[in-house]
Amino acid sequence: MSPIEIIRAAGLSYKYYKDDGGEFWALRDINLSIKAGEFVAVLGPNGSGKSTLAKHFNALLLPTCGEVFVGGLNTRKPEHHWQIRQLAGMVFQNPDNQIVATTIEEDVAFGPENLGLPSAEIRQRIEEALALVGMSAYRQHAPHLLSGGQKQRVAIAGVIAMRPQCLILDEATAMLDPRGRGEVLETVTRLNKEEGITVIMITHFMEEAVAADRIFILDGGQIAMQGPPQEVFLRVAELRSVGLDVPPIAELAGELRQAGIELPPSVLTVEELVKQLCC
Ligand SMILES: Nc1ncnc2c1ncn2[C@@H]1O[C@H](COP(=O)(O)OP(=O)(O)O)[C@@H](O)[C@H]1O
Ligand SMILES: [Mg+2]
Repeated sequence: MSPIEIIRAAGLSYKYYKDDGGEFWALRDINLSIKAGEFVAVLGPNGSGKSTLAKHFNALLLPTCGEVFVGGLNTRKPEHHWQIRQLAGMVFQNPDNQIVATTIEEDVAFGPENLGLPSAEIRQRIEEALALVGMSAYRQHAPHLLSGGQKQRVAIAGVIAMRPQCLILDEATAMLDPRGRGEVLETVTRLNKEEGITVIMITHFMEEAVAADRIFILDGGQIAMQGPPQEVFLRVAELRSVGLDVPPIAELAGELRQAGIELPPSVLTVEELVKQLCC
């Protein structure tokens, strides 16, 4: 059986109307398919269309041309929007804009309450979601006392409490320190590997991109490159031409290869490099 497709974009183009009456094509003929259970990273320079693309994945934006399907449902049909937004939950950049309640558990309850679920079910979902992001001990805490990484984990719990099949993070770690970024990456990796939740992570950080199964690189509203990180990060010149860097370890591995040391393309992290050189 072939894996189930969770998101498909077919000939997706999107045009913004500017204040001066002009038009701007932010996405141009995007074709992609994401399978249930995949961990996908989306990279690209500022203004390349990453957020515009992400907003099509839960029907916050609708295509100017082409189609987007989420769980097989066409986002063009308004009667599908409620279901699509439960299937695909979004976490945004600024943690302070996403937490609405005065305690963590009330915040996580917000989505399930809007679904009109019975209170026992809501309580169960809160417990489960907070446990999955490692924040159970903080359930009675006030959100403003948390670190940035903890706030984003609560925002993720709020989405998880809706039992989505797909979690979309739009630069959700951009405002965090390295420790907070690590916490969020560890959390989404676990949700992906252990709970089977599809993850779409828009990011500037290479350590997040190398954790993905597949990478899409956007440039000027088009998919410039795609593939597993081991393949994409070998294409150094192309990456540089769209203004992106390669992960430092991939670069070092490239230099070592040039110096005659045999290394497989899978070397993208410190651990892998140490293993290759020392074992
Ligand atoms: N509401 C808008 N009106 C007009 N242009 C927009 C709007 N939002 C984004 N854009 C333009 O669309 C392009 C893509 O934006 P965006 O999807 O936010 O890119 P990214 O997330 O990769 O930085 C940018 O050039 C941006 O200026
Ligand atoms: Mg953006």
